Amino acid sequence: MKVLVVGSGYVGLVTGACLADIGVEVCCIDIDENKINNLNKGILPIYEPGLETIVKRNVEGKRLSFSTSLAANIENVGAIFIAVGTPPGEDGSADMRYVLAVAKEIGNCIKKYAVVITKSTVPVGSSEKVRAAINEGLQSNNQTTTFDVVSNPEFLKEGAAIKDFMSPDRIVVGIDSERAKETMDTLYKPFLLNGYRILYMDIPSAEMTKYAANAMLATRISFMNEIANLCEIVGANITHVRAGIGSDPRIGKKFLYAGVGYGGSCFPKDVKALVKTGKDNGYNLQLLEAVEHINDAQKKVLFKKITRHFDNDIKGKTIAVWGLSFKPNTDDIREAPAFVLIEDLLKAGAIVKVFDPIAMQEAKKELGEKVTWCRDVYETTQDAGAIALVTEWNEFRLPNWQLIKANMQTAVVFDGRNIYDDVFLHKAGYCYYGIGQ
Ligand code: UDX
Repeated sequence: MKVLVVGSGYVGLVTGACLADIGVEVCCIDIDENKINNLNKGILPIYEPGLETIVKRNVEGKRLSFSTSLAANIENVGAIFIAVGTPPGEDGSADMRYVLAVAKEIGNCIKKYAVVITKSTVPVGSSEKVRAAINEGLQSNNQTTTFDVVSNPEFLKEGAAIKDFMSPDRIVVGIDSERAKETMDTLYKPFLLNGYRILYMDIPSAEMTKYAANAMLATRISFMNEIANLCEIVGANITHVRAGIGSDPRIGKKFLYAGVGYGGSCFPKDVKALVKTGKDNGYNLQLLEAVEHINDAQKKVLFKKITRHFDNDIKGKTIAVWGLSFKPNTDDIREAPAFVLIEDLLKAGAIVKVFDPIAMQEAKKELGEKVTWCRDVYETTQDAGAIALVTEWNEFRLPNWQLIKANMQTAVVFDGRNIYDDVFLHKAGYCYYGIGQ
């Protein structure tokens, strides 16, 4: 089967590359000429472990190609994935502009039955809008080509996207036609070897599943962050509490880490969008509003701890910030807690020295010369009054603390992810602050 993937961003590229890798002929489309030119040269717009190798292998194998033109590549296509962005509009709702523009263009050019699969995260009811936009395109060209729409939300985690695509926990597919089901079975059955399940359901339920999954995960994090903050006040330790509650299989061990708040391209945007969907339908999602407020406040927690330690005066003090991406193994800095901290530190007159193994190039676009860019963690600690660990990259886990202490003016560590052992650091002569301990 020949497949088009429209939108060569994170989700589109991973989808296209992984489908090509199982033998499907895939063309990835994007309106950004620069991006397509680079992809044709083997230069990827994002960092994702393993992706470059898969892209290269499948381009060489002539199963994967890149183009700016949907119309030029539509011939004999059986499935078209829409994987363009749905950024939050000013009111928090998902902006459907790009999805609907693609849908209309599909209508303008399909000549033969195809299944149009929405992978972008879109509010409930969007597939109907996609259907209407395709019909609009068809009508304006006096075409009567048949097609089906499918909702197939994506659950990829950045940094683990290839593994998630190749052996996912589940594939959620919203359909309303047997013919579309056949196409989806054909495309996804090769992955059944890995033992996962395709969950077929109606289209609105599939659309809602994506938001509900992300909102539930975001809720767990905000819940743990609230409990962590209370632990600090009452003298409990969140690490023990997490182990204690996580061993109940109804709760589970995963995704219970208190920290500096969630970031990334999905949780903040999707929680906002779901709250907006509620409002639009006359329903107030109070829990999710609280999840969002708690997260905004949590992004300020490290700054509060730092200023409290230095008696509200950090003017002229150097603070070493470790990690800029919203989580390890990605260069994605969208909604990353590090930037909230850095802006607050700068406002308070601190000198900020930063290091991130992968995300510095992206971060430079945002921060320019406002901070000092360092080659490694050791350079950040030169004359520093404190270290703030924001992203738990592996290489930050066991640095040479002796060397670092010799660099620093005062040996203080603010550990935003609870990755260090407080006893160990105290013994090494550091003053240590974690989250919820
Ligand atoms: C998320 C979902 O996991 C994925 O299924 C969906 O398709 C897209 O959104 P992603 O944004 O890549 O994926 O990141 P994820 O690994 O889920 O982490 C999100 C944020 O939560 C990060 O900022 C992370 O640091 C934070 N987090 C995660 C915590 O603070 N505590 C935890 O226990 C887990």
